[in-house]
Formats: sequence, C-alpha cells, structure tokens
Amino acid sequence: MRITTRYPPGASALLALLWLSTASASAAAAASASASANSPPNIVFILADDLGWNDVSWHNDQVVSPNMQQLVDTGVQLEQSYVQPLCTPSRSAFLTGLYPFRIGRQGRPLGRLTPTGLTLNQTILPERLSDLGYSTHLVGKWHLGYCNWAYTPTERGFDTFYGFYQGSQFHFNHSATGGYDFRDQKEVDFSANGTYSTHLFGDRAVKIIEEHPRDGKPLFLYLALQNVHVPLEVPAEYLAHYPEDLDEDRRLLLGMVTALDEAVGRVVQALKDAGLYDNTVVVFSSDNGGVESNQPLRGNKGSVWEGGTRAPGFVHSPLLQGTPRVHSGLLHITDWHNTLLALAGAPVLPPNDGFNQWDALKDPAVASPRISFIYNLDNEYEEGTLGAIRLRNHKFVMGEDRDSVVGDETGPWLFNLEDDPNETVNLVEFEPALAMALEVLLLEETPNVVPRDEPPNDPEGDASNWGGVWTPGWCDVP
Ligand SMILES: *[C@@H]1O[C@H](CO)[C@@H](O)[C@H](O)[C@H]1NC(C)=O
Ligand SMILES: *[C@@H]1O[C@H](CO)[C@@H](O)[C@H](O)[C@H]1NC(C)=O
Ligand SMILES: *[C@@H]1O[C@H](CO)[C@@H](O)[C@H](O)[C@H]1NC(C)=O
Repeated sequence: MRITTRYPPGASALLALLWLSTASASAAAAASASASANSPPNIVFILADDLGWNDVSWHNDQVVSPNMQQLVDTGVQLEQSYVQPLCTPSRSAFLTGLYPFRIGRQGRPLGRLTPTGLTLNQTILPERLSDLGYSTHLVGKWHLGYCNWAYTPTERGFDTFYGFYQGSQFHFNHSATGGYDFRDQKEVDFSANGTYSTHLFGDRAVKIIEEHPRDGKPLFLYLALQNVHVPLEVPAEYLAHYPEDLDEDRRLLLGMVTALDEAVGRVVQALKDAGLYDNTVVVFSSDNGGVESNQPLRGNKGSVWEGGTRAPGFVHSPLLQGTPRVHSGLLHITDWHNTLLALAGAPVLPPNDGFNQWDALKDPAVASPRISFIYNLDNEYEEGTLGAIRLRNHKFVMGEDRDSVVGDETGPWLFNLEDDPNETVNLVEFEPALAMALEVLLLEETPNVVPRDEPPNDPEGDASNWGGVWTPGWCDVP
C-alpha cells in the first residue's frame, strides 16, 4: 500500500469500509449469472465512433436522430455507461472484458505501422459466442491490430468481416496515408471505393440479417460504424437538416450523426422484416467521447474526464421490462462481455473486470451490480501516472493534464458526480480522507499493470511495400 503524508489519519479506517462494500457487491454479482429461459436472443451491438455526449437527440434537440430517438423512447436509455477514453482501448475492453491496463492497451491507439495487436492469449467475445452456437459478424472498424493475419477479425472468432482494419480513413475512398484499407473477409474490396462507409456498412448489416437462416443459429452482429470519426465527410443530403450558419465542422459532424442514425434505423427495420426482432437485443454505445465538445460534461476524447468516458447509449429490445426507462445504474464497457454471454446462455461466466448487467438492464427492480470502476491506470503517461477511479458517487483523478479548467490545473481531484456531474468543484481539500482512500484503491492495481504494448513503428508495414494496400504479413506473433 502506498503511504502518503498528504492526507490525515482516519483514511485507513474509511478505506477498510470501502473495501468491504466493494467486496460484497462483487460477490452478489458473481452469484447472479442468469441465463435466458428461451432460445438465446440475437445480439446486435452497434458502436459509434467518437460520438459525443452532446451529439445525440436525447441530449441535444438540435441533433436529428429520429430512429435512435425512437429506440430510446421505447427502450432503456443508459445514462451512466462508461467507456475508455480512446478507440483501441475501448474496443479491447469490449471484446475481452478486461481493463486495458491488464493487457498493455492503456496507452495510445494502434497506429498504422505498429507491429502488434490485441493480445492473442485472451479468448475474446466472438470466440465465446461462436462456442455457444452463434453466427458472428463484424461490420465496420476493427482497430485491434492487423500486422499479422492472426490479429485480424476472421482469425479471432468472427465468421465474417466487412470493413477496415485501421483506426481511420476517408469515408468515401477508404484510403488513408497512402494506402487503401477495405476488406470483405480477407480479400481487398476495391468495389467499396467511392461509396460512403456508413451506407456500405448499413447495406451489409441488412444483408446479413436478411440472409440469416430462420431456424438456425442465433446472430451476433457487431456493427462498428465509422461515423462520426474524422475526417468529417458526409453526403450533402444529410446536411440539409441543419442550419447553414452553423459552424461548418459542427454541421458536418451533425450530418454524420444523421447518416449514422439512418443506418441504425435500417438495421432495426431489417430485423423486423426478417422476423428476428422479437428475440433480439440491440445495444448502442459510443466508443469514447467526442473530439471537440461533450457539453455540459468536462473534457473530450482521450481524457479520463466524464466527457471522454461517459458515453451516450441505449438498449432496445422487446425482452426488456418496464420500458421506456432511463437507467442510471453504473455500467462499464467491460460489462458487455459477460452480459452478452449471460444473455447467450453461457453456463459459466469467465473471470474478468466485467459484471453481468443483464438483470439490471432488463428489470427496473434490479440494481446495477457495479459500484466502482477504474477509468484508466497508466504509469507511463508522459512523466507520471494517469489514473481515475469511481466509487459510488465519487471520482478520484490523478495526472490528467488535458482539458483542464483554468485555476484547476493540478491534481489530484475528487468530485462528487451526483452533485457535480461536470467536475467543477475539486473536493480534495474538503474530503482528504476519502481522496486518499480512493487513491489507494486505484494504486493497489499498479502491480497488475502490464507495460504498454507499443513497439516502435515498423516501416515494413507501409502500404507502399504492399501495392498501395494496408496488408497483414509484416510482423511476427509472440
Ligand atoms: C500474453 O501475451 C502478451 C503479449 O501480447 C505477453 O506479454 C504476456 O506475457 C502473455 N501472457 C501469458 C500469460 O502468456
Ligand atoms: C480520398 O479522399 C480524400 C478527400 O476527398 C482526398 O483528399 C484523397 O486524396 C483521396 N485519396 C485517394 C487515394 O483517392
Ligand atoms: C478510388 O477511386 C478514385 C476515383 O476513381 C481513384 O482516383 C482512386 O485511385 C481509387 N482508389 C483505389 C485504391 O483504387
């Protein structure tokens, strides 16, 4: 345990109390892995890219997203659904159920020339769902490594893959930094060139649903849409929903939200047309906060502030009870792994950082099993340690130097998010014992932090060596 003189005595007694309450909540959650009674439901998990708190119609009435609004209005709106601050870490946490710091993914997103990928010694969600009899599909962005075929989605449990391996590209020509990046299964698909990715991904998702065998396997569709990641590009028709005098970039981004919304609407309509809807659970989340603004939340993508990590989201399904409903139970992106496995009827849930949230999502009478989570823990951040932890209503932050408010530049920080969701009043001076207890709780995980898996760029991977296409085959696997 780390000893610090900054805080008064009394903190250790408080810490003991906190430990007890955390431990009992975990035990209760572990006991409640319930499988669904009927045939396992179809699962459609839609992940938007860089969609901010303020970029959805249920938080901002300027946004035109009627299809998602309708799903929220008849579903469960998630108001305390947390993700990692960046693309690769969030996708990693979703598919493994692990905090990124346990597998070296707490730092930067994977770059085009980074010779590594999501660790191969974890069994990931599509592999487990395949074992449970699901047919599994990834449509959209991967961003978990591609330097060796072993890292790519069709070698990691997905029956089909349609989309791109890297983190960003132009939305129409699917090129980035001198290379093309678009595949159907393992084949480069040049026919995608010229067509907007959200249209392509919507079309493919609809096709998968239409062609899904009726009395066959249940469906797992992971639809990882490119919108609203930069570069800001959208067909002009979507801009017509927004005033011409709006800031140009903001107008483009909102147009991209409306295009994304159309794709979500098409997917749900396809589920209905195919007769699958009644036994399907649709989950929607962003992968991290918006780049420019998440008002009124503090901070943006890349930071552990609420604006970087508290994602807009919802669950929509006829299997949910007491809808519509706003759900304020604490949920973290690591939870989806075991939540979806429980829904799929897994007899045993693997040990990881997640909780099975299905009962709490389904039944308004059941509380979230989660009272705490770690936003991030990175002891290779610039000069020191960057970290944040949540326990009930309190949040402790250390080492965060992005998006800091004037007069509030140096941590550590303690906030009561129930009273102060926008992180404006630092309570460290007022509740030092609690601040220390949370710091200790966070830093207790330090021995479990795996060093960042960020080997230097390997120029061998450059698309110019591979006929102008970003292609696997230039790194070894451990
Ligand atoms: C898992 O793989 C990572 C590299 O991705 C490696 O650093 C780690 O030692 C491996 N762990 C085990 C238990 O094999
Ligand atoms: C892709 O589109 C962007 C934006 O229009 C353009 O700047 C870029 O040169 C295009 N790349 C290719 C390979 O066509
Ligand atoms: C995509 O199409 C554009 C316009 O026809 C062309 O300039 C570009 O080279 C194409 N990209 C690839 C990778 O073929």
